[in-house]
Order: sequence, then structure tokens, then C-alpha cells
Amino acid sequence: MATAPTPDDRFSFGLWTVGWPARDPFGEATRPPLDPVEAVHRLADLGAYGITFHDDDLLPPGIDRAAVLARFRAALDATGLVVPMMTTNLFTHPVFKDGAFTSNDRGVRRYAIRKTVRNLDLAAELGASTYVFWGGREGAEVDSGKDIAAALDRYREAIDTLAAYVKEQGYRIRFALEPKPNEPRGDILLPTVGHALAFIATLEHGDIVGVNPEVGHEQMAGLNYTAGIAQALWAGKLFHVDLNGQRGIKYDQDLVFGHGDLLSAFATVDLLENGGYDGPRHFDYKPLRTEDIDGVWASAAANMRTYLLLKERVAAFRADPEVAEAMAVAGVGELARPTLGPGETLADLLADRSTFEDYDPDEAGERGYGYVRLNQLAVEHLMGAR
Ligand code: GCO
Ligand code: MN
Ligand code: MN
Repeated sequence: MATAPTPDDRFSFGLWTVGWPARDPFGEATRPPLDPVEAVHRLADLGAYGITFHDDDLLPPGIDRAAVLARFRAALDATGLVVPMMTTNLFTHPVFKDGAFTSNDRGVRRYAIRKTVRNLDLAAELGASTYVFWGGREGAEVDSGKDIAAALDRYREAIDTLAAYVKEQGYRIRFALEPKPNEPRGDILLPTVGHALAFIATLEHGDIVGVNPEVGHEQMAGLNYTAGIAQALWAGKLFHVDLNGQRGIKYDQDLVFGHGDLLSAFATVDLLENGGYDGPRHFDYKPLRTEDIDGVWASAAANMRTYLLLKERVAAFRADPEVAEAMAVAGVGELARPTLGPGETLADLLADRSTFEDYDPDEAGERGYGYVRLNQLAVEHLMGAR
């Protein structure tokens, strides 16, 4: 049985997750608003280490910023909870209905940059090291209404301008772009991890820009989340993760981590624990609309407990000699060996008769890889059957 979460596990939660009053497009809120200070205390009691938020989650327009911040900071100091990540709400207000950094309206684009700078200053003050950009409204429904190339130019302009600001100020902050294929826009710019990585490669200040992939968002596009974050890690760009659950290609469900594709979640934990990721394990989920406030805290705990149970199951899988043997049969380790030998050139390969003239592809094609056995071992470990 997994031990209880501790701050060493580096679990963090968005204030907007446990604080979601469960208003949806079809119905009113089913829960009262949650005091951010209460969220800090409850998350700390449950063993989390961090809380994250959008500017407007904590400091909605018109509020006494100084007073709210003083109370919030006191709660952080009292509990030891930290703020590892912050972000900007560039999607709720009607001004952002056609996007923020990529709105066709230039005044909106300039306002979006101002709103972000103001919150970046606060992020630096609170010690956040990651700043997320989720461009939910950066997109379109009407093809002829959005010049995609111009929109990407403006997106790049905004991110580069803001990244240059962070460097000038000497802030120790890196940006993480969060891809999503659709919702709320019909089609969103930078819809997948791959699109985001390609965009980052065009930036002037791309050295401090990476990605924040969310489980459900990749799965909404029918993609393999673990494979996506593996490529981001490979590119040195996995700066943050949003963990949650999703069941198939439909609206963004934001289920508890593991409450969607559990086998995929097993692979995700394996990669995060063993693949070189050292950032927070951040949950971006929504407690179901059916839950009361006790259900909210139970669901927060469920995210962390599921992660720790999977971590335990993954460790058992990795330690199982039969798994090692199945991996050897499949040639998993063999892929790490370069295809050309040390110092070998293409000319050497062409001269090597064993690569073609004496190579029997029919015989080589008879090899079985045993992936099904390997997967069954994963399933059995996941089920606690081994
Ligand atoms: C969503 C997104 C958001 C972002 C958040 C932080 O689909 O609603 O996942 O929850 O993660 O805005 O940038
Ligand atoms: Mn989501
Ligand atoms: Mn998210």
C-alpha cells in the first residue's frame, strides 16, 4: 500500500481545480465559492506541496489586492505550501472572445500583454519558477476569419516580448505552453505537443520556453500522452505537466488522474519517475459536478493516491525479472545502440555485405517481439496480480 503523500512527492493543484464551483454550459454552480486560504490549508493537510493559480482566481478585478495577497501569503507561510507555477486568465472576459495574443483586434492583443506582465511580476515575487500559457481562446471557428500565419506571428511576438521581459528583469521563470486541440474555440492554435514544439523552435527566446502537456488534451486529439511527453523530454522541453483523466475523444473531461485510461496513466508515471522529469506533479482536474465539498477533498486526495499507487506498481514492474527478460526478448535496450558502429560511415555500411547481399529479410521477418507478453505483465502488475 502506498504511503501517504508528502511535500517530497511535489504534488501541486490549481486553485481553479478544487475551487471549481461546478458551473457548466448547461447548469448553475453546484458548490459554493471556496476561499483560497481554505484551499491552501486543506491541500497542505492532504500532503500537497504546491498551489498554482491564474491572476483572476486569487485577485479578481476590483478586489483589494494588497489585503488578499497578505492573507494568502500568511496561509502559505503557516503551511509551507509553495507556488511553483502561475498563469494568466486570458479567456473568461468577453474582451478575449476572439483570442488574447492572437485576437484580430490589436487593442486586445496589447491589453493581453499588459495583463500578463502584471501577473509575471507577482509570479516573480511569489517565487514561481514556471509560467504557463494556455491559449484556450487563441483560435477560430471560421477558416476565412483567421489568418493562421499572421496569428502565429503575433503569438510568437507576444511570447518573445514577454520572455525578453523576464530575462531583462532577471526573473528565474521559464514559460510552459499548454497545447489543446479545441474547447472553448472550435480549433485552437498549437493544438498538440508537436505543434507547440515546432513553434518554440522558431522563437528568439525559445531557450526559456517549453511545454505543459495535459493528459486529457492529447487524448482529445486521439494521441498517446506518454509518447508526447517523451518527445518533449527528449527535446529538453518538458517544463511542467497537467495530470488528469480523459475517456476517449470527447469534451475535456478533466477527470481525476487515472480515472480515464489507467494503463496509459501507468506508462505516464513510469516515464515521469524514470525518464528524467524533475518538475512538479501538477493536477489539473475538476471534481465532478455531483460532488459536495467533502467529495472535492476526497477527489484531490484520489489524484495523489492514484499517482503513488501507480508509482509503486511501476517499481514492482521494473523490478520483476520476468519483465526484464520480456524486454530483452523485445529488444527494448537494443534500440539505444547506434545503427552505425563507432566511426563507421555510410560507405562502410554499403561495403558491409551482411547488411544487404548476405542479409535475409525473410528470416529476420520471422522474429517475434513478444510485446503482448510484455503488456500483459504490465497489466498484471497494474492489477496487483503479481
Ligand atoms: C483547460 C486548461 C486550463 C489550463 C489553465 C492553466 O482546458 O481548461 O487545461 O485548465 O491548464 O488555464 O493555464
Ligand atoms: Mn483540461
Ligand atoms: Mn490544463
